[in-house]
Amino acid sequence: MDSNCPLMIYVISSAIVLNFTVGVMFHFHNIENIRNSTSHESFCKDMGYDGFAVISTPEAFVYAIKITHKNRRNVFIGAHYQPEAVTTIWDDGTVPRSDTPFGSRKGNPIFKQGRLQRGENEIVMVMGNFGKTGLCGNHKNYPTESRGTTMRGELLTTEETIVSVSQVFSYVECAVLCGAVHECRAGEFNSDLLTCTVIGEYQSSGHIPKSEVVTYIRQTFWS
Ligand SMILES: *[C@@H]1O[C@H](CO)[C@@H](O)[C@H](O)[C@H]1NC(C)=O
Repeated sequence: MDSNCPLMIYVISSAIVLNFTVGVMFHFHNIENIRNSTSHESFCKDMGYDGFAVISTPEAFVYAIKITHKNRRNVFIGAHYQPEAVTTIWDDGTVPRSDTPFGSRKGNPIFKQGRLQRGENEIVMVMGNFGKTGLCGNHKNYPTESRGTTMRGELLTTEETIVSVSQVFSYVECAVLCGAVHECRAGEFNSDLLTCTVIGEYQSSGHIPKSEVVTYIRQTFWS
């Protein structure tokens, strides 16, 4: 990468603030008290939250790890095994992306409850009977917050999914678009074509410098 400047975008009624820190926009509430998963979830609802926090994007995941670092136990989160889907789904109905750091129990009906394993920065599925701490959150109006870096040129990938291609006027618009789409992992802006290609999970094998292409590389679950 010839340019690697940190870029963070908040969409607050169309105001764009670059190089801003801390994800205060996630309405998560960390509960350090210990309860089993069912009583924790009703506690979250009693406090006015939709339930456990959904941490489906890299930014939400990294933020959840950060705010729960003081907890004595691992943390219940809003991911449950759904029998109809035969897999684990986020509580807002989102299907987890392939790069979400889930342990091996994601498709096992015995382990219905998602838990954030803070030390390993991983999500494990558990039965939920034992007392743990919990993270409450709202499921609707999920905040559009995104962090990433700017790269001049086009991604070279061994594997990628094109989520969408749309007409935009600027690189910033493309970066904002990427941050608003939970599948997005990179957004390629082409200034000749005025297109924004939203790319999903990818395996990178470098990049090709191209004057007309600027790529927004969204942060990952591991950064
Ligand atoms: C969870 O905790 C509540 C309150 O202590 C208790 O009534 C309930 O039986 C527990 N549920 C499970 C599945 O252990």
